[in-house]
Parts: sequence; structure tokens; C-alpha cells
Amino acid sequence: METKIYKMQEKIEQAELKAIATLLRKGETVAFPTETVYGLGADATNEAAIAKIFTAKGRPSDNPLIVHVATKEQLFSLVKNVPAYVADLVDGFSPGPITYVLRNAQKVAPTVTAGLETVGVRIPNHPVALAILEASNRPVAAPSANRSGRPSPTEADHVVQDLSGRIAAIVDGGRTDVGIESTVVDCTGDVPLILRPGAITQVEIASLVGACEVYEAASEEKPKSPGMKYVHYAPEVPLLLVSSGKITQVLKRYEQEGNRVALLYESESLEHIPVAKKELIGADESDIAQGLYRLLRKFTKQEVDLIICEYPSLGEENAIIDRLKRAATEIIR
Ligand code: TXA
Ligand code: MG
Repeated sequence: METKIYKMQEKIEQAELKAIATLLRKGETVAFPTETVYGLGADATNEAAIAKIFTAKGRPSDNPLIVHVATKEQLFSLVKNVPAYVADLVDGFSPGPITYVLRNAQKVAPTVTAGLETVGVRIPNHPVALAILEASNRPVAAPSANRSGRPSPTEADHVVQDLSGRIAAIVDGGRTDVGIESTVVDCTGDVPLILRPGAITQVEIASLVGACEVYEAASEEKPKSPGMKYVHYAPEVPLLLVSSGKITQVLKRYEQEGNRVALLYESESLEHIPVAKKELIGADESDIAQGLYRLLRKFTKQEVDLIICEYPSLGEENAIIDRLKRAATEIIR
């Protein structure tokens, strides 16, 4: 299949928007930018279209997809038995990087939710995503537009790398702003429960609605968010997540063994350390989030044998720490 590329970095051409909406309505897959990462979209009401997402990504069929909508009315139309606090969350945070897991009103194809009684819904805060959702006039299921297991795409070129020839179209809207995926919040209970941390934090949710908990999977228990059990965000080469104090020692050991190492560092003191490849992981928290997946995709087997990443000085509950821990082959503290 030839993957068509639509450029919408500067402006949204109405004729192109129409063509994209038509593809979606015909049951094709289209990758498009959101404020978090690129999504691979398909009509959430069309079972055959949803099957194409799972095939293109190589995604396990028990991992449910997030449904994207343009408006609050659409969001509430897809769910039922909604607790009162959800209206406040939606008013406070949507459009934005947050997904609400709610009781499924069965308006979308059953394969979207992998047969669960809940559905994850979000309103993305990106002009191109919103324009596509409005033009298609459909709820659009969209997981991150990467091959399963790889870092999520934060620019159109990442989608090209992973999915070119496997999907109908890619809409290029430039680099995404947030850089990591939305906060997933289970809102079926009395208190919101974070299943996947993201840019919107427990503290922000709690300060809006009074309380918020964070789900911690007991290792052998079935995870509440099925996606959290799979390999995620893996770069091409092994990634070691190493505390600041141990970087020099670990680096020396691997280099002595003849490995070509790329260092992702946060501390200024590591700025001049001699190593094959080196990149500052980011100037501050939002900068790290924005560039994280680009850095994880940057180093290939041709260039390096492994990546050593300095453990960023952020709280354990931080979404960046969550993603790095999942991406890492080993954590040395
Ligand atoms: O920012 C994002 O959320 C991006 C953009 C494209 O919107 N999407 C995204 O989708 O990250 P995906 O499929 O890569 O991750 C969705 C996560 C998975 O961990 C999945 O298991 C969880 O959300 N999820 C979806 N529906 C769920 C449900 N009904 N119950 C529990 N977890 C759910
Ligand atoms: Mg994903």
C-alpha cells in the first residue's frame, strides 16, 4: 500500500482535510498529530477499520484503543453511569492530554475496547487532530502510531519509519508539543485512579476534584490497563538507566569491554565526559518529555551498542520516569 503524506504544519488545506476525512469514513487508517504523540486513527464504529490498526502496528488484540472525539458532548455520548466528578475533570482538562476510562455505552466496535466493559475517551488539544475529528464526524480510535513496542512517534518521520507502506496516510503536523502519551484515568469509581501517568498529574487532578489515586499493579495481578504489561518504548539498542553517582563507573566498564556508548545526561557535570555520543536529555521537565522519544529513536545499531541514560532527578511518580523504566533493559541505582 502506498502511504500518502499530507503536510499540515503551517496551515490546514480544506481540500486535503476533506480527503483525509473521506479516507477515515471509508474505513482506512490515517496517522495524525495530537498534542502528546502521533496517533494511528481509524473509524471507531467500523470493526474492519479497527482490525487494520492492530495489523499495521502488530498490536496484541487484548490491548484496548483510546477513542478520540472533538467535543464534550461526543465524549459523554460514548459512555454511561458517569460519576459526577467527571464533568469537572472534562471542564478542567479537556481538550488536553488526559484520557477518561468510563463505562462503555457500546457505541464503538467491540474490538476497540478488547471486549472490556469500559472505554477510554479523550479530546486531543491539537488543531489538526480536532479538524480531522470534526471533518470525519466519527469517533476515531487511535493508539500511538508506532510499531508495537517501539517509542511513540513525536514527528511524522517517526511514523514513516515504523508504518510506511502499512497505512493509508500520514498527516504531518510537525513535532508534538507534550511528547509523552496522555494521562489515563479510570473514572469508574468514587475516586479517579491514574492507570498511566502523563502530563496531567495526580496533584492537579486531586486539586480539582478533591482526591486522586494511582494504580499500582501487584506483579502477578492482571493489570487494569492492559497495555501496561507489554514491552514499551524500546530503542534499537539496550538502554541502561543509571543513577547520577554511578554513571562514570558504568560508562567506563562498558567502554572497556569495547562497547560504543551513547550517553543521555541531565547533570552539567557530565557535559564534558569523553564518550562516543552524548546528548543532553533536556533543560527542564517539559523539555525532557518533548524530546524523550526522539532521543530514544535517534541511536541506531550502526552507531552505538548501548545507551546509558542518567536517571533524571524527578519524582518516582513522574511520567518521564515511568516511560524510562519501561524502556530500560536494566536499571542501576
Ligand atoms: O496520548 C495518547 O494517549 C496517545 C494519543 C495518540 O492520543 N494514544 C496512546 O494510545 O497512547 P495507546 O494505545 O498507545 O495507549 C493507550 C493506553 C494503553 O495502555 C491501553 O491499555 C490503555 O490506554 N487503555 C485504553 N482503553 C482502556 C480501558 N478501557 N481500560 C484501561 N486501559 C485502557
Ligand atoms: Mg502506545
